[in-house]
Amino acid sequence: MIVPATSQNIARAAQAIRSGKLVGFPTETVYGLGADATNDSAVQKIFDVKNRPTLNPLIVHVASITEVPTVADLETDPKIEAALHTLEKFWPGPLSVVLPKAARISSLACAGLPTVAVRIPDHPTALALIRESNCPIAAPSANRSSYVSPTTAQHVEDGLGTQIEMVLDGGACKIGIESTIVSLISARPTLLRPGAITLEELQAVLPDIEIRASAHSTEQPLSPGLLREHYSPITPIVLKTKLTPAQYPKRVGLIAFSNASDLQREYDYSAFTALSQEGNLPEIAAKLFAAIREQDALGLDLIVIDSCSEVGLGRAIMDRLLRATAKFS
Ligand code: TXA
Ligand code: MG
Repeated sequence: MIVPATSQNIARAAQAIRSGKLVGFPTETVYGLGADATNDSAVQKIFDVKNRPTLNPLIVHVASITEVPTVADLETDPKIEAALHTLEKFWPGPLSVVLPKAARISSLACAGLPTVAVRIPDHPTALALIRESNCPIAAPSANRSSYVSPTTAQHVEDGLGTQIEMVLDGGACKIGIESTIVSLISARPTLLRPGAITLEELQAVLPDIEIRASAHSTEQPLSPGLLREHYSPITPIVLKTKLTPAQYPKRVGLIAFSNASDLQREYDYSAFTALSQEGNLPEIAAKLFAAIREQDALGLDLIVIDSCSEVGLGRAIMDRLLRATAKFS
């Protein structure tokens, strides 16, 4: 059930979280599927509803920097605390930081690891929900495991509607792709998932940051959930650079990054979506998942999608596209 994010509905949602139920809620990145991160049986429901492998840990959301020590154990290593301090300027925001876990957090939420990924989302509804619930909220993206992440309340309802208490509707997510994940556990800070906080921004505060987030690589990921095929629609999807129109099957949809007029003339596309007029990366990121979902619903034979260079936000966009196209390439 989708409900508007009024203060009354946020209070109802918080009551549901406190009583061990699941709530869909907006963040600035994607919609989350929230449960009380200190309640094992509530967290178990997240894995059941999403059909998510239990070896894939969840991100734990808090509402302020002062709450971080209630979910992470910062006493173990002064180096970790110092590095965390340099990252705090990105909070609230699209950054998750992997830290030593506090005992209070459900082991299930962290897939049995001694670590926890922590994030302070930059969304008034998410922050109000966490505050009113009076507990940290474990929340993965509110999609079925391995499908495209949701960026509207309707996307959450489409995938999980019957199995969850409610979805708070906060409109379309501003950023549209999942948070950057940085681990402070290893000897050097490590980028595990690129996102809207870019590698370049991170390098400015953590010059020795290492990258272990390549969607090009087949090696076992440090972040257990970051398997190669992830985020893929049902319809085969390939990067536009991989095929020429002569190789296309019959009904092909194009998702373009700009509205270049020659694109529509090169083939008789059955569907055409321009994510941005002029290839603006934040706009492309914000509309990307909704466009993939829309074209996936059309019963096309193939979706072809543009690419961009892997710098700045382009790194996160290409990471998601390489994962979405991996099983079809
Ligand atoms: O933007 C986001 O991060 C959204 C919103 C709802 O906050 N959440 C999200 O969650 O994308 P999810 O579950 O779809 O992705 C979480 C990722 C997974 O790849 C998981 O492996 C990684 O975070 N992760 C969580 N805890 C970890 C840990 N302790 N160590 C390493 N990776 C971890
Ligand atoms: Mg996800």
